[in-house]
Amino acid sequence: KTEHLKITDIHIDEEKIKKAAALLAKGELVAFPTETVYGLGADAANEVAVSGIFAAKGRPQDNPLIVHVASVEHCRELVQEIPDYAEKLMDRFSPGPITYVLPHRGGLADNVTAGLATVGIRIPDHPLALALIRESGCPIAAPSANTSGKPSPTTAFHVAEDLDGKIACIVDGGATGIGVESTVIDCTGKLPVVLRPGGITQEMIEEAIGEKLASTNGIPESDKPKAPGMKYRHYAPVLPLILVQGDASKIKEFVRKVESEGKRVAVLASKSTADHLDLPHVKVLGTEPNEIAANLYAALRHYTEKDADLLICEAFSRSGIGEAIMNRLAKAAEKHMIL
Ligand code: TXA
Ligand code: MG
Repeated sequence: KTEHLKITDIHIDEEKIKKAAALLAKGELVAFPTETVYGLGADAANEVAVSGIFAAKGRPQDNPLIVHVASVEHCRELVQEIPDYAEKLMDRFSPGPITYVLPHRGGLADNVTAGLATVGIRIPDHPLALALIRESGCPIAAPSANTSGKPSPTTAFHVAEDLDGKIACIVDGGATGIGVESTVIDCTGKLPVVLRPGGITQEMIEEAIGEKLASTNGIPESDKPKAPGMKYRHYAPVLPLILVQGDASKIKEFVRKVESEGKRVAVLASKSTADHLDLPHVKVLGTEPNEIAANLYAALRHYTEKDADLLICEAFSRSGIGEAIMNRLAKAAEKHMIL
């Protein structure tokens, strides 16, 4: 049976954090909130514990996990030399929604890195996550706490939907703030390369290191993905999803056409688009891009067969966090249509 621990304050609920940390230290699986999404944690030095993560999620074995630590000092213990630009990024953005891929020193379980010579390391910017990592005394391997292929969890309820009964404990610290996963950057070359867009945008990285980076937009799908996880279908809602690029009147026209074929349609859109749609099953994701990111995964989980046959989502601008939003939507969608 999965234990549920609700934590409202890390000081008041210290005993609960100690309990969850003790579970981690003895090789159990514990889901916990970060500033991006909920993670499913295990001691990254314990191969058996880590294999439990792959089993609980149904995750392909060749997709390495991110290792979470509580400080830059702890990060240094796990990796070889850190390039200057990565030092700058750590200075500026860690703790925060950014993961550094660096050559590791060994000492972690082999299955954490899927046998690679590099490890993805991140310092989450969440008091509960940091307290849990510190208290456990271990580096914590933690992918998103969802069944592989589904949208990542932004609440403890989503975690329970996917993993109740399969893991030792769920630490409930409320909804996560950012809502999309960390930016993964390859720090093994002369300049950083964004492998997965996220909370820290390419513009922010360029500004911090004072260099312009090659655009990752243009990389053809056929190129072997450097972040192994990027090749699998991800974030998939229950309903087939179509991403639609066009203004409100075009989207509305398209919905009417699909409905005339006898299909029930649900729509996800920004506030300004939704205001012009004037349709029944519309879920407003938010006004600002940050709000849209924060609400995206919950919205993708929301509609099921009892509500509709087809889910349609507006295509958003790719600037700032929009790059991460569109990256996730493109992977979740079966089709991208331009009207
Ligand atoms: O925000 C996040 O990053 C969340 C929270 C829980 O911290 N975690 C997360 O982990 O999204 P996960 O396992 O779902 O995604 C890890 C991504 C995958 O695309 C994986 O392929 C890539 O990071 N990755 C991990 N280690 C890598 C490595 N050594 N080289 C290249 N890519 C790596
Ligand atoms: Mg994931």
